[in-house]
Parts: sequence; structure tokens; C-alpha cells
Amino acid sequence: MQVDLKNKVALVTGAAQGIGRACADMLAANGARVVYSDRNTAGLQDIAAQDGHLALPLDVSDRAQIASTVQQVLDRCGRIDILVNNAGIGVRAADRKTVDEFPIASWDEMIAIDLTGVFLMSQAVARAMKAAKGGRIVNIASVVGLIPLRLQSPYVAAKAGVVNLTRMMALELAPDGILVNAVAPGSTATDGWKKWIHDASSAAQDQHARLMSHIPLGRPATTQEIANGVLFLAAPDNTYITGHVLTIDGGWTAGFARDF
Ligand SMILES: NC(=O)c1ccc[n+]([C@@H]2O[C@H](COP(=O)([O-])OP(=O)(O)OC[C@H]3O[C@@H](n4cnc5c(N)ncnc54)[C@H](O)[C@@H]3O)[C@@H](O)[C@H]2O)c1
Repeated sequence: MQVDLKNKVALVTGAAQGIGRACADMLAANGARVVYSDRNTAGLQDIAAQDGHLALPLDVSDRAQIASTVQQVLDRCGRIDILVNNAGIGVRAADRKTVDEFPIASWDEMIAIDLTGVFLMSQAVARAMKAAKGGRIVNIASVVGLIPLRLQSPYVAAKAGVVNLTRMMALELAPDGILVNAVAPGSTATDGWKKWIHDASSAAQDQHARLMSHIPLGRPATTQEIANGVLFLAAPDNTYITGHVLTIDGGWTAGFARDF
């Protein structure tokens, strides 16, 4: 997909790797000046050299850092046209537990990053977008925010929260020309994911085959396929889609892919 983002400034959280990196690179490839932000500063080292783009440390669970980083972007770039709230953490396979056993510390950490982080980032950036009378916010939710998986209570709760926060922000910010949407990826082949499928153990292979059997297209998404959806919703050409949740999941949530 090709859109014209010349003179646009885009801020992407969690842009050191995975879906965030693919979104940031795609926005850059379409002409935007991109601020790559992440709490993993080592993962941003290759960005700084790229023309016009910035690499800034940012932990979205840290309010003070959000305020100072957003201000720094405004000081250096003068505006923020696009915000992609991508930073997030999931529940590792070894940490999955039923609700009665789920550790409160893990709940707090995940809600702070995956849900409160989206709220705080949107709050800080919406102030600037309101003053500029326009903008695009795209939140990375998940199919599990629409249909939960077991054993991951904070993750499914946070992503469901992101879905409804997206819709609510669309209502509130429409009068200021700010369009707010979400992309809900299904299984996506990020680096962590690739390590998992290359795990030769029979348990890992079995788990992988079971997951793929739920996806009508029979494979995970590439990060570029997720970034395409983000680009479409973030583009100035999108003038009438707001409050939408775009699932990019190979048909996973379209219905039951297997007979019983
Ligand atoms: N990969 C999938 O299958 C999948 C599916 C659905 C949704 N998602 C969502 O997509 C987003 C990106 O996932 P990914 O698979 O690319 O993950 P990833 O682990 O490969 O990358 C996440 C990035 O976010 C950064 N990050 C984590 N916590 C942060 C924080 N507090 N502040 C700033 N940066 C932080 C990490 O350092 C990392 O660079 C997440 O919100 C995730 O929930 C992923």
C-alpha cells in the first residue's frame, strides 16, 4: 500500500521490534517523519542514523517519561499527526494460570503497560492534536480483546479495555478532527513467535499445529500485514472511519474453523 505522509509526524510506541517496528518502518517508507520510541533503547540504536527520524527512550507505564517525551517530540518536530499505541506485553506460556491463581503483580504490570499506557499516551498526544485540530490514533489491540483465550486474565482484560477505549475516544475526539481506530491482530510472526515455531520439541510443534488449525488461512500474519492495516487507518485518505476495530487475523474470529 502507498499513501502520502509527507510533512506528517508519527509517534510509534514499542518500535524497537516486531509489529511496532514494522508499523514505524511502513509509516517512514510512506514519507512520514517517524519517532521510534521504546523502553528497550538498545533496540533503537540503528534508528538514530536514519534521515529525519528520531529514536527516543519511552516506557509507556511511566507518566513522567510520557510527559517529557511527548514534549520533546513537539519541541523537535513541532507536531504529532499520527500516534500508534503499540507497546505491549503478553503472558508467557510458562506463566499462564487460571484467574484464582493469577499473581496480582503480573496483573498490575500488564494493565499498567497494555491498558493504562494506551490511555496516558492518548491523553498526552490528544492535547496536542486537539490544539492542531486533527490527527489519527491507531491502537494495537488483539483478537483476544474481542474473544478471550483462557489463562491470560490481565492480557484479555487489557485488550478488551483498549477496544472500548478506542471507541470512546473516537466519540470524544471526532469534533476535533481526530480519528481513533484499533487494529486487532491474530497470531503474528514476530521474533518471539519465530523462536517458538523453530522450537523442535514435540510439545511446541503440537501447540503450533493446534493454533494454526484455528486459523482459516492456516498461517500467522506477517508484521507487514498488520502494518498495512495501521497505515490504512492512519492515512490522511482515511477521512470517515473512526471507532473501528480492524481484525487482521486470517479469519480466526470469523467463526469456528473446525468441526466438533
Ligand atoms: N505478535 C502477536 O501475535 C500479537 C497478537 C495480537 C496483538 N499483539 C500486540 O501487538 C503489540 C506488539 O506485539 P509484538 O508481538 O510486536 O511484541 P514484541 O514483544 O515483539 O515487541 C513489543 C515491543 O514493545 C516494547 N515494550 C514493551 N513494554 C513496553 C513499555 N512499557 N514501554 C515501551 N515499550 C515497551 C518492547 O521493548 C518491544 O520492543 C502488542 O501490543 C501486542 O499485545 C501481538
